[in-house]
Amino acid sequence: MKVLITGGTGFVGKHLAVRLPESIIAGRNVQKIKHLFGNREARQWDGSGNADPSFLEGVGTIFHLAGESIFQGRWNEAKKKRIRASRIEGTRFLVDTIAKAKHRPATLVCSSAIGYYGERGAETITEGATAGDDFLAQVCMDWEKEALRAEEYGVRVVLIRTGVVLGADGGALAQMLLPFKLGLGGRLGNGRQYMSWIHIHDLTSMMLHAMNNTTLRGPVNAVAPNPVTNSDFTQALAKALHRPALLPVPGFILRLALGEFATVLLRSQRVVSKSLQESGFTFAFPEIEAALNDLV
Ligand SMILES: NC(=O)c1ccc[n+]([C@@H]2O[C@H](COP(=O)([O-])OP(=O)(O)OC[C@H]3O[C@@H](n4cnc5c(N)ncnc54)[C@H](OP(=O)(O)O)[C@@H]3O)[C@@H](O)[C@H]2O)c1
Repeated sequence: MKVLITGGTGFVGKHLAVRLPESIIAGRNVQKIKHLFGNREARQWDGSGNADPSFLEGVGTIFHLAGESIFQGRWNEAKKKRIRASRIEGTRFLVDTIAKAKHRPATLVCSSAIGYYGERGAETITEGATAGDDFLAQVCMDWEKEALRAEEYGVRVVLIRTGVVLGADGGALAQMLLPFKLGLGGRLGNGRQYMSWIHIHDLTSMMLHAMNNTTLRGPVNAVAPNPVTNSDFTQALAKALHRPALLPVPGFILRLALGEFATVLLRSQRVVSKSLQESGFTFAFPEIEAALNDLV
């Protein structure tokens, strides 16, 4: 049986696709997939209810990563609507397609985010913790609820509550590299907020672990075992780049410049993964210094 990746053209999807060279890539634009992946099998997926009935033919595992970027563009009402709809309606339509499929996949590995937990100060959070009450927490809760409906059709569902993914070619780190390289980096807000991060290599390894380890189901925090404060992260990144990081950005400036998205940078989440520890997953990059040295 084959593996299918929705959002396979994105930052995480491309890295996962490299480790699954036989996988099918699904996305809104088949030409874009052909351009990125050459002869790889491509299937049309726009997150609406229009998927071809044969969309899941021959598929044993789905990695569902598609969703409007939370990093790019200001969060106005239209953007927030797209963030919500692309995940919640997109996942609902995917599960509806699973329900109608002649042969249903065995496993759905669906992306979610540690945004589920909201602002938590210095509290250590594992998978059993309650949800937060802000916009992203509500999106994650509703997104996971839609994915879990697939269990009614005999599908094992793993929810990957992803932390801040560190990779040189996308996500948060790629956006920070230029200011830090220019010596314009600095802590955000008071720098005491916890940041739960994961190296892109460990994220794709744990996704493969979730596919292969059939005892794993439900929420899994995809975070390294050692979350750091924003101040510690700033110092580690500056050191890895051999640059100073002397220009802190006050919280109110971030809020003025970025609007509601600033909450993502200023909230504190000290998340660890009980599920990964109990299922015997080994991290290649458990410490921030080694992760950043590898990436930059
Ligand atoms: N990167 C992180 O730090 C991070 C942290 C927590 C959670 N996550 C979650 O992990 C998943 C993958 O993240 P990523 O960083 O790889 O995201 P990404 O680079 O933004 O890629 C997501 C993919 O989703 C598709 N997409 C974008 N907008 C869409 C829309 N409005 N409707 C339907 N499909 C749309 C696009 O594929 P096509 O153009 O080919 O359709 C895109 O390549 C996302 O669900 C994200 O929320 C990521």
